[in-house]
Amino acid sequence: MVQPDSKIKKELQELRKEIEEHNRRYYLDDSPILSDEEYDRLFDRLLEIETQFPEFVTEDSPSQRVGTTPSEKFAQSPHRIPMLSLQKVTTFEEFKDFHRRVTEGITTIDSFDYFAEPKLDGLAVELIYKDGLFVEGSTRGDGKIGENITANLKTIRSIPLRLSPATSKAYPLLEIRGEVIMLRSAFTKLNRSLIEQGLQPLANPRNGAAGSLRQLDPKITASRPLLFYAYGISDFDLNGLDKQSKVIELFKKEQFLTNDLTLLTADIQKIAKHFEKLDQMRPDLDYDIDGMVIKVDKFKQQQQLGQISRSPRWAIAWKFAAEEAETIVEDVDFSVGRTGVITPVAKLKPIKVGGVVVSNASLHNEDEINDFDLRIGDRVVIRRAGDVIPDIVAVAEDNRPPKSARVKYPNTCPSCGDKIVRSDGDSAYRCNNIQCPAQLEGRLFHFASKGGFDIDGLGIKLARQLIEHKIVTSPADLFSLTKEQLIPLERMGDKKAEKLLNAIANSRKTELPKALYAFGIIGVGETASLILAQKFGSLSKIALADIEELEVINGIGPIIAKNIRTFFDDITNQEMILKMRYAGVDFPKYVETKIEKKESSIYGKTFVITGTLSKPRSYFKELIERLGGITTSNVTKKTDYLLCGENPGSKKEKAEKLSISILGEENFTKMIEQN
Ligand code: IVH
Repeated sequence: MVQPDSKIKKELQELRKEIEEHNRRYYLDDSPILSDEEYDRLFDRLLEIETQFPEFVTEDSPSQRVGTTPSEKFAQSPHRIPMLSLQKVTTFEEFKDFHRRVTEGITTIDSFDYFAEPKLDGLAVELIYKDGLFVEGSTRGDGKIGENITANLKTIRSIPLRLSPATSKAYPLLEIRGEVIMLRSAFTKLNRSLIEQGLQPLANPRNGAAGSLRQLDPKITASRPLLFYAYGISDFDLNGLDKQSKVIELFKKEQFLTNDLTLLTADIQKIAKHFEKLDQMRPDLDYDIDGMVIKVDKFKQQQQLGQISRSPRWAIAWKFAAEEAETIVEDVDFSVGRTGVITPVAKLKPIKVGGVVVSNASLHNEDEINDFDLRIGDRVVIRRAGDVIPDIVAVAEDNRPPKSARVKYPNTCPSCGDKIVRSDGDSAYRCNNIQCPAQLEGRLFHFASKGGFDIDGLGIKLARQLIEHKIVTSPADLFSLTKEQLIPLERMGDKKAEKLLNAIANSRKTELPKALYAFGIIGVGETASLILAQKFGSLSKIALADIEELEVINGIGPIIAKNIRTFFDDITNQEMILKMRYAGVDFPKYVETKIEKKESSIYGKTFVITGTLSKPRSYFKELIERLGGITTSNVTKKTDYLLCGENPGSKKEKAEKLSISILGEENFTKMIEQN
């Protein structure tokens, strides 16, 4: 059908606007609302029209750029050689088309190999090394200009700050490209800690990496577990560095992380097998991958093939089917956390995503519900990232059943019925009733958790029963529980009750940071608890500290300081602590060390632990990491100290060979005490 020009122009205009908006959401706000597939559909339509009507292509069409305008938060950082994006295929047939184009495009009689590697799902960055020194690092931005995030990148320990003399000499200017990612395990841990602190969790590891890297304060980036994986350089022929596989070898030699799931082959059947293998391995990997990148190995041949628009003709992304699925929102529930935050949870018609049946999805907060204009009965796209509760990424508004009901935020707490409030600048509604049963349950559970009083056997179900039966109204009541009170509870036998009472009795002897953490003060997670314990040394000193004294502490700040004061000024909390003391809870003084991480001589130093020590290795590992040190398992030239117990093995020999300082346990303890 022939359409009039004006109609096409109008569609183009709308498409461009829409795509730019989604680009902004994805790259700048780290909060996409479309699935990749839907975004691709829009983009493909744009390309389709522009190919058909090249006269309508404009300078500012999204097809003319790779990402989006860099944010004004950071200084601009132009890329000497643009950072390209990749064309995608999703089937072997499409991959074969790519292969055909490559075969036709390579004019020499040379044979060619492909180098296939996983497509990591993180944030693309460029690192510039001048005379071997890491001088500047940036995001991809629009491909031509990125954001200068050097300070943040420097906090990532897997980025070498200096290259070896040989490499520096051979390549005085080396621009290295790769992906910054957050491991799934680290992401889960980070989210758990954000939730524990009463803060908003991150949506998925990619957003975790992107959000962490684009922090204005590098200290926040430093506290986030990020990794850099190198996968390329900007130049085509740099002093004999003439193919991808060689570049990866160089990266390995220079101690960059590279992905090992690669394949060098000329055989496209083998590539297809490798793709399947990666797809199968995908759920078990500790990082997100969304496909495989296949590159022509030799740079000379890459150059011959050149590029179209902003994508190379010598590489392709073969994408996996997304871990996404469509289902229906049957209801929205509101749950109350221990800090009183009300979280909306979508109840879904159960559906399988990424091998797991899912029936809940997080909606985060009121703004998200409003942005989606979500209604009960809506068909939604959900995405599962890692092992977290899945997210809703899109709502199909056009298929909405008639007269569907808007999701209404409650005015009152679903647990206690008190009015709930949303203060200025807060994304969440909160129930402020300290006695709210749902909060009590959450607090009791948190109190007994591993990081707190570590009471084995006290899970969320038991916490609920104890509150419901009014046996416990404050964590302090735990310490005067009797067997008679416990026996009538559901699934509670004689033995189980005894075990629980034993665990409670043993928990009386705790450590100061753990006790502080157990109180569940908003913002006071494990790190802040440790900082407070280190700074003040005793619970009474912390309880009496002025807000001015608290807010200047590195890692505390005015908001947490206020929460701490509010907690200790509250008469109910004072009574709780007193009651605990009467019940024999020991709040021991904290004497281990009284320093702040960054002032310690251990900060940033790499340790390897070997041999038999007086305590388990995990104890020393934790101690080193608390003080900002790093522990690794192998001795390399980057190791600063070997902590060496009795009967050390080959690690000691290796450390001696590399002239690395060897510390016995006694000297190690001295070193810590000196701080
Ligand atoms: S090569 C022209 N290799 O995919 C070559 N990219 O569209 C472009 N990505 O955001 C890059 N893993 O960050 C390459 N092994 C890999 C990759 C990879 C992930 C990302 C890259 C960019 C996108 C390219």
